[in-house]
Formats: sequence, C-alpha cells, structure tokens
Amino acid sequence: MKALRLHRVGSFDGIRWEEVADPAIGEFDVLVKIHAVSLNYRDYGFIKGTYSLVRDLPFILGSDSAGVVVKVGPKVSQFKIGDRVISLLRQYWYGGKLDVRKAASQLGGSVDGVFSELAAFHEGSVVHAPSHLSFEEAATLSTAGLTAFRILTQSGVTSGQRVLIQGTGSVSLFAIQLAGKMGFQIFATTGQPNNEIILKELGAHGVINYKAFPQWQKEINRLTGNKGVDLVIDIAGGTSIQQSLEAVAMNGEVAVVGFLNGTQSTIDLVTMIRKNVRLSGYTTGSRDDLQRFVPWLKGNPIRPTMAEVYTDFMPAFQTFEKREKPGKLVVKFD
Ligand SMILES: NC(=O)c1ccc[n+]([C@@H]2O[C@H](COP(=O)([O-])OP(=O)(O)OC[C@H]3O[C@@H](n4cnc5c(N)ncnc54)[C@H](OP(=O)(O)O)[C@@H]3O)[C@@H](O)[C@H]2O)c1
Repeated sequence: MKALRLHRVGSFDGIRWEEVADPAIGEFDVLVKIHAVSLNYRDYGFIKGTYSLVRDLPFILGSDSAGVVVKVGPKVSQFKIGDRVISLLRQYWYGGKLDVRKAASQLGGSVDGVFSELAAFHEGSVVHAPSHLSFEEAATLSTAGLTAFRILTQSGVTSGQRVLIQGTGSVSLFAIQLAGKMGFQIFATTGQPNNEIILKELGAHGVINYKAFPQWQKEINRLTGNKGVDLVIDIAGGTSIQQSLEAVAMNGEVAVVGFLNGTQSTIDLVTMIRKNVRLSGYTTGSRDDLQRFVPWLKGNPIRPTMAEVYTDFMPAFQTFEKREKPGKLVVKFD
C-alpha cells in the first residue's frame, strides 16, 4: 500500500507518498480501507517542526480518518466487513481519565497515522461512522469535532448560558454549530471581516473582530452587561489566556485548546481566584466520548463545515498553510 510518511522535519519536502508494507492484523483488529483523511494543525505542526516529535522518523502522518472495514480478525465482535468507521485519535483512550499510556497512543504522532491506503486498528479504537455523513465529512469528527463536543458537554455550562468561541478554525466552527444546537448564547471572535458573516450564519449572536478590537475582552464585557461569558473556548493561548480570564463570568471556565498565539502565558492569578474560575486543558476525547458524540449528531444532524476536498495531499497542505478559507480540508482516496 501507499502511505504519507514524514522523513524530515522543516518543510513539505520532508514528506513522501510512498510504498510501505501492508499492515498485519491481530485477532482483535480490523483492517480499514481509508477513504478520507482530514488535515489537522498537529499534522502540519509535525511537518514544520512546531510540534515536537515523539517518535523516530519516518512515520505515517494523519490523525483523523473515515473508511470501510475490509478484513476482521477472528475475535472481532463489534464490526463486520463493509462497516463504515471512523478512527479514534488516541487509540487506547477507550474511556475514563487520560493517562500516560492512553496519551501516548496518538495516530500520526506516537503511532503510525491514517494517511495511508489501509490501516489496522484494534476494534476498540474505531467507531461506526454516522450514516448521514459522507466519508469526507465523517473524517473530521474525531479530532476537531470531538474536542468541541467534549468541552461543551463536560465543562458544566448549561443551555442558555454564554459561550465565547475564538476564531474560525475547525474546533471553533464545530463548537459554534454544536453550541447553537445545545441552546447556548454564542459570542465569537475573528480577525477577518469576511468570516464575521460566516460566524453569524452559523449561529453566533455577537461577533468581535480581534484585530480591530485587540482588547476584545472589554467588548465581551460590554456586550454582556459586565457579566462576562460562562465558558471561553480558547484556541489562541499565549496572551489570550489573560484576556479570556477577564472575559469569563464568575464561576466560569476557560477551556484551553490550542496555542496559535504562543505556548507561554502570563496570567493574573487574582483575576482567576476572585472570580472562582476554572482554567482547564482539553485534548480531544475517548472512544466513550466519541460514541456519545455520534448518536448526538444523528439527533442533531449538523454537517461539518468543509473548506475543500482534495485527491492529493500536497495541495491540501499548501492550502492549509495559507488558511484562507474557514472549514475542514480533507484528502479523499479512491
Ligand atoms: N486540544 C485539542 O484536542 C485540539 C484539537 C484540535 C486542535 N487543537 C489546537 O487548537 C488550535 C486551533 O486548531 P484548529 O484546527 O481549530 O484551527 P485552525 O484550523 O488552525 O484555524 C485557526 C483559526 O483560529 C483563528 N486564530 C488564529 N490566531 C488567532 C489568535 N491569535 N486569536 C484568535 N483567533 C486566532 C483564525 O481564525 P480567523 O481567521 O477567523 O481569525 C484561524 O483561522 C491549534 O493550536 C491546534 O493545535 C487542539
């Protein structure tokens, strides 16, 4: 089979679509023909060197996939040939709290990823794909979609409360759509005037341009009558964390998801303590979370926001780098 392997960190020259051995399957494994892989920042980060490598080169990239089961091991009980499945990013995070072993089972990082024609998974590491979504759409769920779902369902916010979601990245677009279905009052930020329309169409009640208003937390406080929001989904990190602490309401939560603005933050602890605020890190979710998300999606049939579908990885990564258009970039296989 062919697979996309990272041989050298630093530029797109370091990746090669090349022949590798077909994966062998164990007795509890399924062999999946991959039909679609969505691009995530971590895939790009490993290539460019902004994400630290956790294993030796070369390895197969790719975090998020959808495909069809083409072979099953003799002890597989939950899947049969022909089933449409999506893969779990942290392969051994079946449920419960994250631990070191579960964290170290990340596709396309600590273990070989899904940017390949075939992939073998333990049957506990895949989930049935929602039937209303195409392979391309289903391939966006287990990283960006699941992260948004877990934050919104586990942070303790309840319907009617206020949520602030930053930017038009893939986690944020999922979060806005899900938050709308869950009945939250949604505030959103973007640096692009064109994206303000998209955010409003997706259900944001108030949109702030963080470039026009670098002190966007003041706008949030103005728009909410100085009450603030009950949850901030912070994808920027860096200096944004302190601003999120200033924008959050008493007893609220700042959910830290990304670090586009930097991995180091200085925060005023008094702001945090005075308001009784939780500052929490989130990293995707477990198979149990994904198995809750899929039926939820069936009952609330939103479709992931798609930017473009490619049949080749290189133009997909080049477009990813430019980030001109909100939505998921997906590579589709025949
Ligand atoms: N914790 C997890 O499980 C998890 C899962 C997936 C991703 N992530 C991380 O989350 C971050 C976002 O990833 P993604 O895939 O959702 O996004 P993405 O597709 O990389 O897009 C990022 C968007 O965020 C906005 N943005 C960029 N810099 C910003 C800043 N300084 N302040 C506010 N908004 C800013 C921009 O939107 P506008 O152009 O509209 O301003 C940009 O298009 C990355 O760091 C990624 O590694 C974490």
